[in-house]
Amino acid sequence: MSEAYKPLDPETMPRSPGITYQELLDADSRPVPDVLRLQSPKDMGLQRYSVKRYTSAAWHELEVERLWKKVWQFTCREEDIPEPGDHYRYDIAGMSFLVVRTETGALKAYPNACLHRGRMLKEFDGNAAELRCPFHGFCWKLDGQLKDIPADWDFPQINQSEFSLPEIPLAVWAGFIFINPDQNCDPFDDFIKDLAEQFERWNLGGLYKQAHAAKVMPCNWKIAQEAFCEAFHVNATHPQIMRSIGDVNSQVDVWENCARVITAGGTHSPLLTEVSDPDLIRAMMDLDHDAEVPEIPQGVNLRTFLADRSRENLKAIAGDRAEIYCDAELMDSLDYTLFPNFHPWGAFNGIVYRFRPNGNDHRSAIMECIMLAPFEGERPPAAKVHWLEEDETWSSVLGFLGKVFDQDSFNMPKVQQGLESTYMDGIVLSGYQESKVRWLHHKLTEWVGE
Ligand code: FES
Ligand SMILES: [Fe+2]
Repeated sequence: MSEAYKPLDPETMPRSPGITYQELLDADSRPVPDVLRLQSPKDMGLQRYSVKRYTSAAWHELEVERLWKKVWQFTCREEDIPEPGDHYRYDIAGMSFLVVRTETGALKAYPNACLHRGRMLKEFDGNAAELRCPFHGFCWKLDGQLKDIPADWDFPQINQSEFSLPEIPLAVWAGFIFINPDQNCDPFDDFIKDLAEQFERWNLGGLYKQAHAAKVMPCNWKIAQEAFCEAFHVNATHPQIMRSIGDVNSQVDVWENCARVITAGGTHSPLLTEVSDPDLIRAMMDLDHDAEVPEIPQGVNLRTFLADRSRENLKAIAGDRAEIYCDAELMDSLDYTLFPNFHPWGAFNGIVYRFRPNGNDHRSAIMECIMLAPFEGERPPAAKVHWLEEDETWSSVLGFLGKVFDQDSFNMPKVQQGLESTYMDGIVLSGYQESKVRWLHHKLTEWVGE
């Protein structure tokens, strides 16, 4: 663990008034798993981080060299390329890679570049029996070995048995395929250890990709990402959900390569003095202020009541597995981040975000949301990515969650513009509520520098 992170005592550290997340867990109707009882608040100082991280092309170039060319990063799900010959094109900061399912079912990753004069081998995701370059026809087998050189008499310098596509390190965790452009990188298992341990119970590999939406956002990728790394902005940006979530009482935990923000659902914001149960339910279900809502039996804890309903719904698609979850796992946002840009939610929600630079434009980003869901019997086919046009909203594809994203998205270009105009020398972050954002910047300092 980095020496710059000092553990804080959860009992004595400064925190918002109102019920703590751990106190909410005490009222759970089921045994609460150990992973939710972990607390790892960290004092990482109160340093400001340079605005150049968002506005400077030079900083982006350093990020490319020191981060994107060196770090383990999520590409696609195994289920996106289930059959031999299936391939996925993964692009990051001007570079392109191919993730390929070979004839034996193994997974391989290659730079998406022909070894003749360098043309990109595949422009699109799809299925192919071989990797043949469209320029002059050099061809490789799916496992990367050379298959064919047109006019091979004319290339006496090529040793055909050694002219294989270079392999990029690849690893799979919970159905997610990661690659590392650096052939001398550290082992993936070490990198993902903290996150993998915490997700054992939730088995995201057993879920299928039900939906996948992506959009180019007019801001640096970190502006988009950081909008999803704290709940402090809820009162100003999403006031409609304050009635049903414990925004400023979120629990923030920081480890080495991962961090999380847990925001309780089925409780109201401590910033609101009083919210009636029916109003809380309306906020939670996105209903009008006078809509009929179910009656809560006397003496029943509201979170338990709502969790029971969601457990019943889950039973229809997940059978008895629905019973393993406690109330908190059905009600709360367990928003994890694996550095630098992979954001899986824990427990039942099955939401995954990813944010990355859009090519080498440091003022635009690709934001994605993947929804994973349980299934019974045969695995349903994975949803294809749906690219939203500039004027298309997230709510047109993601419903209630999309409405919240649209509010977040509204801020993003304005944050970019503000940062281009500001006279301040660095962004200011709160000590606790924004500590996941601070952790991200702390990691960036480690990888990229000041
Ligand atoms: S560049 Fe690929 S065959 Fe010539
Ligand atoms: Fe938000």
